[in-house]
Amino acid sequence: MKFSQLPVLALAATALAAPPVQKRAGGCSSAVKLDASTNVWKKYTLHANSFYRGEIEAALSSMDESTAAKAQEVAKIGSFLWLDTIENINKLQPVLDDGVPCDHILGLVIYDLPGRDCAAKASNGELKVGELSKYKTQYIDVVASLLKANPNTAFALVIEPDSLPNLVTNSDVQACKNSAAGYRDGVAYALKTLNLPNVVMYLDAGHGGWLGWDANLKPGAQELAKAYKAAGSPKQFRGIATNVAGWNSWDMSPGEFASASDAKYNKCQNEKIYVTEFGAALKSAGMPNHAIIDTARNGVQGLREEWGNWCNVKGAGFGIRPTSSTGSDLADAFVWVKPGGESDGTSDSSAVRYDSFCGKSDAYQPSPEAGQWHQAYFEDLINNANPSF
Ligand code: GLC
Repeated sequence: MKFSQLPVLALAATALAAPPVQKRAGGCSSAVKLDASTNVWKKYTLHANSFYRGEIEAALSSMDESTAAKAQEVAKIGSFLWLDTIENINKLQPVLDDGVPCDHILGLVIYDLPGRDCAAKASNGELKVGELSKYKTQYIDVVASLLKANPNTAFALVIEPDSLPNLVTNSDVQACKNSAAGYRDGVAYALKTLNLPNVVMYLDAGHGGWLGWDANLKPGAQELAKAYKAAGSPKQFRGIATNVAGWNSWDMSPGEFASASDAKYNKCQNEKIYVTEFGAALKSAGMPNHAIIDTARNGVQGLREEWGNWCNVKGAGFGIRPTSSTGSDLADAFVWVKPGGESDGTSDSSAVRYDSFCGKSDAYQPSPEAGQWHQAYFEDLINNANPSF
């Protein structure tokens, strides 16, 4: 994809993605300055973006009346917009044109590292190992220029889900070995380049069932802190994002897997404990340690056979709505990062990006490719929601 093609694609994306929405009033009348030493979610509401609204609106006609009515409620709930390819940076402008009110913050997921998703297959990205300069100049720099061009809008960024956690626990996987240098350099570049006054940044930290193991807490915190420091300790950096596209409960006690035979090696049986324990490790490693937690799809517990199962978990429901009332000083907010209704991965075993996790008995089948709309799954999320709609 050449950069010169972007304007044309922008038009195409507008036509495809955005339903006929009217340009709304809103936006701030002067430049936004976010203070990352405070919890910005006390002041700003996660914006319900028009891209996700468009996906939901397109899906309404095939639902029964009661589910459709609930779906319209979902469309009003804030969630993050994933910029998961260079081309999909074009999803941003129509969302901005739709209007982001001055008391809203637009959530974006930065997700296009070379050799992405090194320990799995479903979300392998477009950039290959070695294409770091393309990542920097055609992806991060382009996103940064858009954020700069919209100084009156507040942005919250989740940086590169799964990347650094994979380096901590999957360093024996050859693809992760190959990706490691590019992940470290790329994440540091992203943190440094996106460090803008109207932006607050959170670096992905997996979840309690991943870096929460006793043996992973310290190395995990050190890996993240290294990236933060390599970026020059950016001012707009606030801490971590946990449970992104995940399923863990915030505070279920004892946790879902607390009676598993290996539970004694992991104190972090829910995300609340993880945020506390990992937060302490981050502090020791010299890094800001506040957290946002993805609660989009964790409404129902007890569905996974194993903690590590991540693909379209069957029976899941929408979880706690985005809010800054978390009851924990370290937890800035519950947010919806994964747009519920977009698939985690295909169940088609002949597909190139088929990952065996999507063929497990607790994974919903059939399921489309990662990121694609999954109508049946979306309807289940609605009808299993907790709190309910
Ligand atoms: C998966 C997909 C990605 C998508 C994201 C959000 O990670 O690989 O393309 O944007 O989920 O649904």
